[in-house]
Amino acid sequence: MTVANTEIRVQLRKAVESDCEAIYQWRNHEKTRQFIFDSTIISFDAHAQWFTKTLKNPQRVLLIGEVNHLPIGVLRFDFNEQKQAIVSIYLVPGEEGKGHGSELLKSGNHWLASAHPEITEVIAQILPENTASLKAFEKAGYKEFSREYHYSLHLADEPTRGAFYESE
Ligand SMILES: CC(C)(COP(=O)(O)OP(=O)(O)OC[C@H]1O[C@@H](n2cnc3c(N)ncnc32)[C@H](O)[C@@H]1OP(=O)(O)O)[C@@H](O)C(=O)NCCC(=O)NCCS
Repeated sequence: MTVANTEIRVQLRKAVESDCEAIYQWRNHEKTRQFIFDSTIISFDAHAQWFTKTLKNPQRVLLIGEVNHLPIGVLRFDFNEQKQAIVSIYLVPGEEGKGHGSELLKSGNHWLASAHPEITEVIAQILPENTASLKAFEKAGYKEFSREYHYSLHLADEPTRGAFYESE
């Protein structure tokens, strides 16, 4: 992966145990859940268990983006055996529409190139109606690669959103 050496506006740090509560609030916020693959409300206990496991998981990294030392969003990378990182992003509610999304993604790719040089590609799965996300990823240099269509055999059900990978 080639990462352009532009000025970094969003600083990243790894999430730590004391971020558990704040991340729970951001992840469960209505604005965040609207477009993420698993849009259900998570209980605090389930989140806390997931959070502790995540911090210990060598195949996953959770990063907090900060501007002027204040948190603006969360990035997650899940590594697979094909040397790819699956990226997930959401902003701290209230921080949307300021350009933070694309800057957070760019910082994430810089961080990956330096902390995980073995990773060759970053992949995002974005719902087609999530215009802000599509634009943010494009501004950060991502290119559309394929479109996946789902058909539900149970006609009363919506096609499933969470089929690709564990999203929380
Ligand atoms: C997706 C997300 C990270 C984007 O962050 P952001 O800071 O708003 O993104 P940016 O400002 O960098 O870019 C968004 C672009 O979309 C535009 N936009 C925002 N909302 C829009 C909407 N409803 N319709 C059309 N365009 C929209 C913005 O104007 C901006 O374009 P511009 O730079 O040409 O003005 C943020 O909206 C978010 O956290 N959403 C909830 C979680 C989520 O959807 N995560 C992604 C899952 S794949």
